[in-house]
Amino acid sequence: MTTPDPERTSHPPLEAPDTFQVNLTVNGTARTVDVDPRTTLLTLLRERFDLTGTKAGCHQGTCGACTVHVDGRRALSCLILTVSADDAEIRTIEDLAEPDGTLHPMQRAFVEFDALQCGFCTPGQIMSAEACVREGNAESDDDVREYMSGNLCRCSAYPNIVRAVRSVAESR
Ligand code: FES
Ligand code: FES
Repeated sequence: MTTPDPERTSHPPLEAPDTFQVNLTVNGTARTVDVDPRTTLLTLLRERFDLTGTKAGCHQGTCGACTVHVDGRRALSCLILTVSADDAEIRTIEDLAEPDGTLHPMQRAFVEFDALQCGFCTPGQIMSAEACVREGNAESDDDVREYMSGNLCRCSAYPNIVRAVRSVAESR
């Protein structure tokens, strides 16, 4: 049996910090937060920043209700740990309308084409749709169905969602 080396055992064990500091930009505002490493971006946005437009549905990447933009790309905020979003630029549904309340064209289209019923999935649908159009992935109804297939609507408003997204794509 080996004798413990007193030099090595006299040091306290290394411990991981309880929180990590993260810098990120949310809807154009620079934020610095200390977070538990298990905190998802979804939880941060809703519970620390009070940005409750981003909805919490399945918490496991299957419904799309939590869709936001991270560095300009669609992302499921329930699957992103805040610590991995250090230095990222986050945009949520709260940033889409103009400061004077004028709706973003995609928001207007959802209203005009009656593309919602209960509205729970709508912020995620709109964030996804805005990116789809910007990326050129809304050139046909099939495109929209394909590229937005990660956004579920339990009210089944799909036909009108497709019409709304296509109307914005065609107006560009
Ligand atoms: S809450 Fe994120 S995909 Fe459902
Ligand atoms: S409008 Fe109700 S879940 Fe989509």
